[in-house]
Amino acid sequence: MSREQVNLLASSNNKINGCIRVPGDKSISHRAIIISSIAEGKTQINQYLDSADINATIDVCRRIQADIVKHNESLIVTGNNLERIKKEDIELNFGNSGTSMRLMMGVLSAQIFSSILSGDESLSQRPMNRVSKPLINMNADIKTSNGKPPIFISPVNEIKNVDHKIHIASAQIKSAVMLAGLYGRDPFTITTPKSRDHTEIMLNEFGCNITLESDSINVIPSKLTSPKTIDIPGDISSAAFFIVGSIISKDSQVKIENVGLNPLRTGFIDILKMMGATIEISDLKTVNGELVGNIDVESSSLEGIAIPKELIASSIDELPLIILAASQADGKTSLRNAEELRFKESDRISSMAKMMERFNISIDEFKDGMDIHGGIIEGNTINSFGDHRIAMTALLASLVSNGDIIVEDTVNIDTSFPEFIEIANNIGMDIKTYD
Ligand code: S3P
Repeated sequence: MSREQVNLLASSNNKINGCIRVPGDKSISHRAIIISSIAEGKTQINQYLDSADINATIDVCRRIQADIVKHNESLIVTGNNLERIKKEDIELNFGNSGTSMRLMMGVLSAQIFSSILSGDESLSQRPMNRVSKPLINMNADIKTSNGKPPIFISPVNEIKNVDHKIHIASAQIKSAVMLAGLYGRDPFTITTPKSRDHTEIMLNEFGCNITLESDSINVIPSKLTSPKTIDIPGDISSAAFFIVGSIISKDSQVKIENVGLNPLRTGFIDILKMMGATIEISDLKTVNGELVGNIDVESSSLEGIAIPKELIASSIDELPLIILAASQADGKTSLRNAEELRFKESDRISSMAKMMERFNISIDEFKDGMDIHGGIIEGNTINSFGDHRIAMTALLASLVSNGDIIVEDTVNIDTSFPEFIEIANNIGMDIKTYD
């Protein structure tokens, strides 16, 4: 069901209990589809995330002549073996998906056709120079519209690999560079602060020689060979809603099975544990290079903390949930060094500050974060600012609010977690459409 223009009402004072699975990881699904599309051979991708953002990636990969078919719950992708595709110029609409646009900028830079890349209102506001600049240093021909989409990419004779120093901890930037570099000849190094390493792991699964040092990545370009099957773990960023929901509400206990636990994604678990949460991890194993396991979590009393700087990059998408958790902690929680939040699907510092104010929670907003003072959430009507994670975080607050919560403009939930309402209601929440 599309929720365009649909408001949702979450009834207050529930608890959640149950054993669940969440859909496949969004970041890993993008990489599995893109990399199998440019590899040699056929790849079966199991448990991929079937959502609007992933459909944007599938659409554009078909335009570079990857053959992609849906078969039951899986995708079967036959790749183009790094062929530089020659065809008519194309226009591509990436909807809300920044990951699709930024990663595909790397691949499209190497093709022998021109492309125009655009997106929805939110994506049209997001910074793209951070990706176009390193690609231009590799001889790509890219023009942005004042640093934002639409992006215009024209063909070049060759991609020339050079070493890069990237100062932003961004997986999307380094991934675009690695993907473009596969079309170049020479080995290259990217020196950058740590961020999620799913591209490095996936490229290794496809036989590419990538070695990691403490602050750099060495890539030796090579052909990519399909490992035949990729199993995608449950999305830790989707699991995070029910982890935080269970912690902040009373008499709650939730088990989430088969979740991706890549250490560069689990910073929010470390933060919640520092605040006093009870979270147990079990049955750890490695699947296609990624750590996977089960998570058990229950109602916990939380204390406010100063969130360590080192945990910001590995918890970046879960910081809205950490702000919600902090509203239920004793005392003050300080979040700083998180200015990157201002460049997500919405300005998440501003969106969360506005949400907390409407919930009657006292906060002080800073350029790179906020202080949150624990208190009682008053039910209210909240705008999602067109941002899926903001919409779901607001709905989750009904687990602790005095009064119901109405969230306006919830269509974006479909970009990352179309099953959110069904799973939430199955374990005890009460979310329904509201006119
Ligand atoms: C992502 C990287 C992160 C993250 C986004 C997904 C990815 O963005 O916030 O939701 O899949 O590479 P940045 O690379 O901009 O930090």
